Amino acid sequence: MKLTKLPLFILISVLSLQSAASISLNFTAIGAHDGSSTLECWQMEAPFDVSASSGTVGEATAKLGNVANITYGVLPPSVPGALHNAPHNQWVMIIRGTARITLPGETTYAHLVGGPYALIFAADTADVSVRGHHTEWNSMTETIFLQIPTADGKVPPHVVLHKGPCGIKEVTGIRDLAMGMEARRTEGGLGFQNQEPVRDSRHNEL
Ligand SMILES: *[C@@H]1O[C@H](CO)[C@@H](O)[C@H](O)[C@H]1NC(C)=O
Ligand SMILES: *[C@@H]1O[C@H](CO)[C@@H](O)[C@H](O)[C@H]1NC(C)=O
Repeated sequence: MKLTKLPLFILISVLSLQSAASISLNFTAIGAHDGSSTLECWQMEAPFDVSASSGTVGEATAKLGNVANITYGVLPPSVPGALHNAPHNQWVMIIRGTARITLPGETTYAHLVGGPYALIFAADTADVSVRGHHTEWNSMTETIFLQIPTADGKVPPHVVLHKGPCGIKEVTGIRDLAMGMEARRTEGGLGFQNQEPVRDSRHNEL
């Protein structure tokens, strides 16, 4: 890194940290309680941090922990699925397509749309859940997802926000985080206390 760039980098990192530190990643988890699978909204114990890694300096990062391996999966449209247990404690990131997760004998369900908000953690392995959960891949397009078992089957340090899947307001905070970072970036890091989104006055004339 060139020395001349150092002061600005430090300034941006320090300012970004102020908002990143207040926001944590939330995700829907398939857990287990008394031998039955559950749907819950979990929050990572550690809030977003600011990256100092080459190429992503200043970026907000949530460390999801060590993982064992990663599998890229492709499914055709409209796969009805079946009742099953999570094979391992694992992250599942749906990139494209949709999934409807239900629990046997319950009306609660999670509906996930592939993309940035479709990260889930599946932990209802056969040793903790008798029947598991049902996933229907009910998209009219192909479904593409990543399955990422954690190292040694570890469950990420989290707090349970509530029963049932995370709601839209519990996942779209990522947008506020990005907009706050963008506002500070375009203001050269000087207007970081102004959290209001910058409005283009031309839009008001419509
Ligand atoms: C991936 O990790 C899981 C969980 O540790 C393990 O059971 C599985 O054998 C691994 N798969 C490969 C191909 O290494
Ligand atoms: C996680 O949930 C909290 C509490 O509801 C919320 O304030 C925060 O914005 C959420 N995080 C994200 C990334 O949406």
